[in-house]
Formats: sequence, C-alpha cells, structure tokens
Amino acid sequence: MSAVRKRVLSGIQPSGDLHLGNYFGMMRPAIELQEQHDCFYFIADYHALTQLPDPAALRERSRNVAIDFLACGLDPAKTVLFRQSDVPQVSELMWVLACLTPLGLLERCHSYKDKIAKGLSPNHGLFSYPVLMAADILVYGSHIVPVGRDQKQHVEVTRDLAIRFNNQYGEVLTIPDCLIREEVAVVPGVDGEKMSKSYGNTIELFGDPKAIKAKIMRIVTDSTPMEAPKDPSKCNVFALYRLLASEQETEALRQRYLAGGMGYGHAKQALHEKYTECFKPFADRRRELADNPDRVEGILQDGAARARAEATKTMAAVRRAIGLV
Ligand code: ADP
Ligand code: TRP
Repeated sequence: MSAVRKRVLSGIQPSGDLHLGNYFGMMRPAIELQEQHDCFYFIADYHALTQLPDPAALRERSRNVAIDFLACGLDPAKTVLFRQSDVPQVSELMWVLACLTPLGLLERCHSYKDKIAKGLSPNHGLFSYPVLMAADILVYGSHIVPVGRDQKQHVEVTRDLAIRFNNQYGEVLTIPDCLIREEVAVVPGVDGEKMSKSYGNTIELFGDPKAIKAKIMRIVTDSTPMEAPKDPSKCNVFALYRLLASEQETEALRQRYLAGGMGYGHAKQALHEKYTECFKPFADRRRELADNPDRVEGILQDGAARARAEATKTMAAVRRAIGLV
C-alpha cells in the first residue's frame, strides 16, 4: 500500500451476530487499514430497514455491532465509527443518484436477484439498496472500500453512478476502488458453503463458548480414514485454521494432513484452540465495553459529528453542481 493517506470507507448491516466471514472478509482488513489511512466505518442501519427489523432489535443490534468492532480493535482515536442514520445527508445524495440510475443497472445486481430467487417479495428499498450504498461511499469522498467479494458488484454500481454524475455535472464526486483480499474473499461456513447468516452455517465471533466449540466440532469433513494422507486444500477445517494461525503453524498442520495418521477431530481441536487464542481477549474487551454503554454512545456521537462534517461539504458541492441553489 502506498504511503499516501487515503479515505477508506466501509459499512456493515446490523442484521445479526457477527461471524468469522464478517471478521476475516471485512472487519480485520478494515481495522488493519486504520494504521495508515483515514478510515470511516459505519453501521448500516438504514440498509437494515429493507428487512423491516423490530425497532428494539434494530437499536440493540446496531449497538452490538459498534461494540463488536471496538472489541476487535477498531481504535476510535484513529477511525471514525458511526451509525449510517446519524448522517441524513446520505439519503439526500441517494435521491440525486437515484435520478441518474437506469433501472437495468439495479435489475442486474446479483444480491437483488438472489433474494428474489429465494422467494422474497421485494420492496423498493431492497431494489434501490445499491443506490443508498453508492451514496454512503460517495458522500465521504471515499477512495478505498474494503469488502468481501459479494459486495464487489455494488461498488461497481457506485463507480458507474459517480462517473455518470461527473459526466453530467462536472468533477465533483471521487471515484472509489473496491479492495478485496483474495485470501479471505469467501470464508467457508461449517458446511463448506460461503459462511453467511442466511445459510445458518456460521461460527460467531462472540457467544456461548460451548456452543461455538460444538459448531467447530461439527464442521463437515470427508470420510478419509484416520491413517490415510489428507488433502488440506479441500478441507473446511484447514481453510479456517489458516486464517487464524501463523504461517509456521499452518505449514506444520499442512504437513500433518499430508503425512496421514491424523484424524479430522485433531484438526478441529487445533482450530478451536486458535479460535480461543484469537477471540478470548476480544471477548474480555467486549464485556468491558458492554458494561459502559455511555462510552460507546459517546464514540458513536463523536463519529457522527465528524462524518456529518464531511457529508455536509460534499452535499454543498453536489447541490451547487446540480442547480439546487
Ligand atoms: P451475511 O452474508 O452473513 O449476511 P453480510 O452480507 O452482512 O453477511 O456481510 C458483511 C460484510 O462481511 C461484507 O463486507 C461481506 O462481504 C463480508 N462477508 C460476509 N460473509 C463473508 C464470507 N463468508 N467471506 C468473506 N467475507 C464475508
Ligand atoms: N451492503 C453492505 C453489506 O451488506 C453494507 C454496506 C452498506 C456497505 N453501505 C456500504 C459496505 C458502503 C461498504 C460501503 O455488507
């Protein structure tokens, strides 16, 4: 990464408990970037409204995502953490962009098509979800958007809309780039499919340690007998282990797979140890934060004020460019 400081932005929906896919695909890369860049991360509560959550659950989950992010190492002295809905300018920019968005562009979006294919009856919010996401990214003049692979198309829609805007009204909006870490682009779940809340195959970052251990012990493996050599590249347990372990530890486990004589139960134990080593300190910090709701709210309010200042600047330029003043 170059030494030039860039604006990095990403968001996560408060739609349930965070899992290893969220952590390795999005949160950890995002947190690492706070050392060199100017990072803005938010809780996408407007986006969560597309699924009509219960108001109390929405409030509670939004606070929990903030606590999880802070527990995992987001440093509010370096990074701006806020709730999407604390910056209403984003919904104004969404309208402006909506008026430049061809319907076909949204009809082609995989995440929309997948939800329709699953029988969900779509509301307008679900259909225009990518336009709100574009507004999120563009209102802060973001250069880099770290996300998992499933969000790539939405960032492409954002680039398309920013280019359309600039062609029409002059160079006002910054064209962002998506940042996808290939090695963590798709973290597998306990069944080997992409880990996702909607597939019920997740391993949570925080939760009852016994339940988490049981999930790890239930990860699907093939039926290669204990004595036989095993292929680490085809094993879901190994795929998760390598995300948590050092290079040397990963290499050592790889050799044990190849040598034979090791059962999958042993690999699962090793994965569970690494999981605990990584997340236990975060869980301790999480407990402290959960006991201090005022402190967390203060961090979110401070983040919101900083985010609003940026959004206000962009919206002044956008309004001028389109003739609203
Ligand atoms: P879910 O699929 O569980 O609903 P989200 O869509 O809320 O997860 O994802 C939030 C962020 O985490 C996005 O940036 C997404 O790309 C990333 N992410 C989610 N699941 C995975 C996964 N299995 N592998 C890599 N990244 C993921
Ligand atoms: N759509 C993203 C998800 O489901 C969340 C999100 C909303 C987002 N706005 C964003 C991510 C802007 C990156 C940038 O994971």
